[in-house]
Amino acid sequence: MEGGAGHEPVLRDVVVELLRPGRCGLMLDCTIGLGGHAEALLSAAPEDARLVGIDLDEGNLRAARDRLSRFSSRVRLFSACFDQADTVLAEASEGEADAVLADLGVCSMQIDDPQRGFSYTADGPLDMRMDPSGGTTAAQLVNRLDEKSLADLIYQYGDERYSRRIARAIVAERRNRPIERTMRLADIVAGALPRPAAAARRGIHPAARTFQALRIAVNDEMRSLERLLDKLPVLLAVGGRAVFISFHSLEDRRVKNAFASLAQGGKAELVTKKPLSPDPEEVEKNPRGRSAKLRCIERIA
Ligand SMILES: C[S@@+](CC[C@H](N)C(=O)[O-])C[C@H]1O[C@@H](n2cnc3c(N)ncnc32)[C@H](O)[C@@H]1O
Repeated sequence: MEGGAGHEPVLRDVVVELLRPGRCGLMLDCTIGLGGHAEALLSAAPEDARLVGIDLDEGNLRAARDRLSRFSSRVRLFSACFDQADTVLAEASEGEADAVLADLGVCSMQIDDPQRGFSYTADGPLDMRMDPSGGTTAAQLVNRLDEKSLADLIYQYGDERYSRRIARAIVAERRNRPIERTMRLADIVAGALPRPAAAARRGIHPAARTFQALRIAVNDEMRSLERLLDKLPVLLAVGGRAVFISFHSLEDRRVKNAFASLAQGGKAELVTKKPLSPDPEEVEKNPRGRSAKLRCIERIA
């Protein structure tokens, strides 16, 4: 996660140290975002090292293209879902990468733009698509799913214990008129929580878990991540390293399990036995990075 062009991406120096760009011919950034990690990696890589970057968000790709322009033809950027990373590498006429990075989730530029619908603190259309050119919006899910499916989704992807109350409130409210705006949904969710529970979530907005759940569902985030993890053995060259940074337990569990099974199958070694997190100084500068968990593996024979 990163705070905008010019700001530092989460765990930047750790990413550079673990991915060892000095030894890389080809690096693959599956979530190029605003290009912060990519810039740090390219700056530390040999002059002929190349980087292939992927993102679903056209606006972020444009920002990354600007930020990385000084590396010119060493950088190729693609608008795609990272679960297509193997196809992207083939299209770029590249083979396996020596470094693979996935810094999951959304970046600040997306959250801070109310028009994208990710924010529960600024009003905007209830959208949440990382690629706004297609797919289902959060408004469509909220207005179309039956109460049980909505409750299950909020529980499963938001780990929200009041999911049933929230789903009930949403269904009651949408009978009056469809729920199309972020602030209306945030108010409905906040009103559905028992008051002591809402107060107990000090510093965390009562709608945060519900918004997270909808974002994951809208973008089919867990399945894309699983497909990317399945493809790691074909993306990563022997001796190369992969770093994944996740921002909630659903992601981290998938990364942890996939890395463990690659290690058990003799295809990789765990470089980080336990996940790494930003130190308090970094969290102070970039509070949104506080839940980051970084894991790294190295591909072996
Ligand atoms: C946390 S940001 C990455 C920030 C980046 N590391 C930097 O330094 O600027 C995550 C990025 O991943 C993108 N993204 C999320 N899911 C994706 C997917 N399935 N395929 C491709 N890009 C995705 C988002 O659009 C966002 O730009």
